[in-house]
Amino acid sequence: MNQKTIEYASEYTTVWSFPQRGNWATHNPKYRGNFAPQIARNIIEMYSQKGDSILDPMVGGGTTLIEAKLLARNALGIDINPNAIELTEQALNFNHQPPSKQKVQVADARDLSFLKDNSLDLILTHPPYMNIVKYSEGQIPEDLSNIGSLPKFCDEIEIVAKELFRVLKQDKFCAILIGDTRKGRHYVPLAFNVMQRFLKAGFVLKEDIVKVQHNCKYTKRWEWKAKKDKFYLIMHEHLFVFRKPKTDEDLSRIRFSRQL
Ligand SMILES: C[S@@+](CC[C@H](N)C(=O)[O-])C[C@H]1O[C@@H](n2cnc3c(N)ncnc32)[C@H](O)[C@@H]1O
Repeated sequence: MNQKTIEYASEYTTVWSFPQRGNWATHNPKYRGNFAPQIARNIIEMYSQKGDSILDPMVGGGTTLIEAKLLARNALGIDINPNAIELTEQALNFNHQPPSKQKVQVADARDLSFLKDNSLDLILTHPPYMNIVKYSEGQIPEDLSNIGSLPKFCDEIEIVAKELFRVLKQDKFCAILIGDTRKGRHYVPLAFNVMQRFLKAGFVLKEDIVKVQHNCKYTKRWEWKAKKDKFYLIMHEHLFVFRKPKTDEDLSRIRFSRQL
C-alpha cells in the first residue's frame, strides 16, 4: 500500500505541532528521538539561503542534513556515535537538484577545533535530554546521553555552546530543540537551564518556540500514574533560536534577551 506523503506548511507562530511527521525523501522515524523534518525545514528556510553552510553537531539519523540537501544548502553533520554517522550517510543517498554538498564525520560537539571561527551560516541541533534516551550504553564516554546529573550535563552543554558560538558567523542563528524532565515529584527545567548556558556563551535569544509532542511511546503507560499521583505528563519541548550578536552591536537595547 502506498503511504500518503505528509504536506508541509511554513509555521508563523511560536507553537509548532506536527501530529504526523514528514515522510518525504528518505525521512523515517527509526532513529530514536529524531525530530520531525518539519522542524529542520522551517528553521533552514527561515534562517538561511541557498548555498549557505549549515552545521548539525549532533546529527543523529540525519534529519537536518536530508533537509539541507533538499533545500540546496551545504551541510556538515557530526555525531559522537559512528552508528548515527552511518545512518545519516545512508539517508543522504538520493539525488537532488540543484546539487549541494553534505559531509558527515564522527566527532565530539565539545571540540570543533577542525572548524574555523565565524565560518557557518546556521546551526541547528538537538542534544540528548540528559540520559532520558541513551544513545550508547556507556561504551562511548563522550556521549552526553550518559549524563544523569543536571549540573554536569549543563557544564558539558556550555562547552558545546561556546564552540557553536565560535564557529557561527556574526548576526547568524543557532537553533536547538530541548525538552524537560521530571524527577520524583518535581519538574526539572532542563531546557531553561540549557538556555541559560547558551546565553552565558554569548548568544542572545531570538525565539522560544514551544513544540508540542505527539506519539510519545510512554504516554499511555504513564497516563494512569499521572492521574493517580496528580502530575501532568510533559508534552512539549522548547525550540530556542539564538543569534550571535555582531561585535560592535549595542546590546543594551536587548538586555532582557541575554545573560544579565
Ligand atoms: C536527540 S539525538 C539527535 C537526533 C537528530 N535530530 C535526528 O533527527 O535524527 C542526539 C544525538 O546526540 C549525539 N551525541 C551525544 N553526545 C554527543 C557529543 N558529545 N558530540 C556529538 N554528538 C553527541 C547522540 O549520539 C545522538 O545521536
